[in-house]
Amino acid sequence: MSNIVLIGAQWGDEGKGKIIDILTEKSDYIVRYQGGNNAGHTVKYADKKFVLHLIPSGILRSGKKCLIGNGVVLDPEAFFEEIETLEKKGVSVKGRLFVSDQAHLIFPYHRLFDTLREESGASQKIGTTQRGIGPCYEDKMARLGIRVADLVGEPQFFEKRLRHVLEIKNKILSKIYHHKPLRPAACIKPYLAYRTRLIPYAANTSLILNKAIGNGKKILFEGAQGTLLDVDHGTYPYVTSSNASAGGALTGTGVGPTQIDEVVGVIKAYTTRVGEGPFPTEFPEDLVKKIRDKGEEYGATTGRPRRCGWFDAVIGRHAVSVNGISSLAVMKLDVLDELREIKICTGYRYKSKILKDFPSNVEILKRCSPVYESHRGWLGNISGLKRYQDFPPAAKKYLRRIEQLMETPIKIISVGSNRAQTVMLS
Ligand code: GDP
Ligand code: IMO
Ligand code: MG
Repeated sequence: MSNIVLIGAQWGDEGKGKIIDILTEKSDYIVRYQGGNNAGHTVKYADKKFVLHLIPSGILRSGKKCLIGNGVVLDPEAFFEEIETLEKKGVSVKGRLFVSDQAHLIFPYHRLFDTLREESGASQKIGTTQRGIGPCYEDKMARLGIRVADLVGEPQFFEKRLRHVLEIKNKILSKIYHHKPLRPAACIKPYLAYRTRLIPYAANTSLILNKAIGNGKKILFEGAQGTLLDVDHGTYPYVTSSNASAGGALTGTGVGPTQIDEVVGVIKAYTTRVGEGPFPTEFPEDLVKKIRDKGEEYGATTGRPRRCGWFDAVIGRHAVSVNGISSLAVMKLDVLDELREIKICTGYRYKSKILKDFPSNVEILKRCSPVYESHRGWLGNISGLKRYQDFPPAAKKYLRRIEQLMETPIKIISVGSNRAQTVMLS
């Protein structure tokens, strides 16, 4: 076991941060490969709590090297704010945090477009985090993006490029959104100030990673969001704008597929989703409240209440397939402690058919109703358990059924938010 890609196998917030923190112990480099500060990864140990948005969760273990890959979109304001928060809490990033010089930069106009679009009603509302993520990836694909390398290079070239892009943005702002144009100086000045601060972090991270792999170092690829939010494999258009699935780890870092040894899929023992979009197993109102309260299901980035539902093996199998998941980490099993009955969705009913495979058409997905099987709850507190053999038989049965439906072994079980509340299976 050496190079591991860790991905969310549902709609994000599965508990990736907690597992990254645990796997970091045996890794040398931890690298984010997509998304940006739309992510919120929580790590808790002793009485400390950290929420990482942009910086890899591995930063909390001293000495570990952390990289932000070329596939990430970087908001410098958020980046430096996060470093300050970490340093205030006694976590030093000096000499062990690097940012790809190919990563695209988020500018104020990206955030503005994200908000204007969500509020305009002209397009369908996605319920984005309004961090400018989508508009920044759009510019990357439209070849209108500005990268870290542009910013840390000669200031006059950066300024020229930004003025050119702003001209286009201002036309769209005034003609489509009837919004006042942005002043170039208001954008250029703060970014030139970030430039000086960003220079020590900018690097060719692909080169760093490939050299490290050559020297036998272990790499942990930290996925953000989740497979069902992936721009290709998710519930399009209700997705984020990057490849959150395992493939993104390669293009988002500049490491080849032959270097990956394992893909760990993180799943909650139930399902949650933030934002708009279809969610076949969503709970009725009474259960939402119960699980949301017990599971503290509020967004780590925006604080929005998360939608909650039963475990869905259809999306689970889809995630196993598109990511090539080799093992599972099942999170938040303790949240189901008080339920008399627990359901698992094994298929979708659409018109007169039973679908076993995840449908690509979002209108079909919206109209699918889940086919459930029912399991008896264990009705006991499992949050202090340390060994699998001590788990109540009903909990073991539930886990074995998930394994069977997903045709993938469970290697990690999480029974609480703290680092110590984790059971490793061999
Ligand atoms: P991520 O985005 O995938 O890293 O997940 P988030 O940090 O957004 O959300 C997961 C939440 O569940 C956080 O508040 C964690 O502290 C919490 N958590 C993680 N594992 C467990 C667990 O096994 N039990 C409980 N009760 N909470 C957990
Ligand atoms: P982590 O890494 C859960 C969701 C948003 C919205 C959609 C698009 O903590 O699991 P965006 O701002 O990315 O354009 O929003 O994606 N979303 C997440 N949901 N966890 C996340 O990250 C998310 N990042 C984005 O709520 O539905
Ligand atoms: Mg999160």
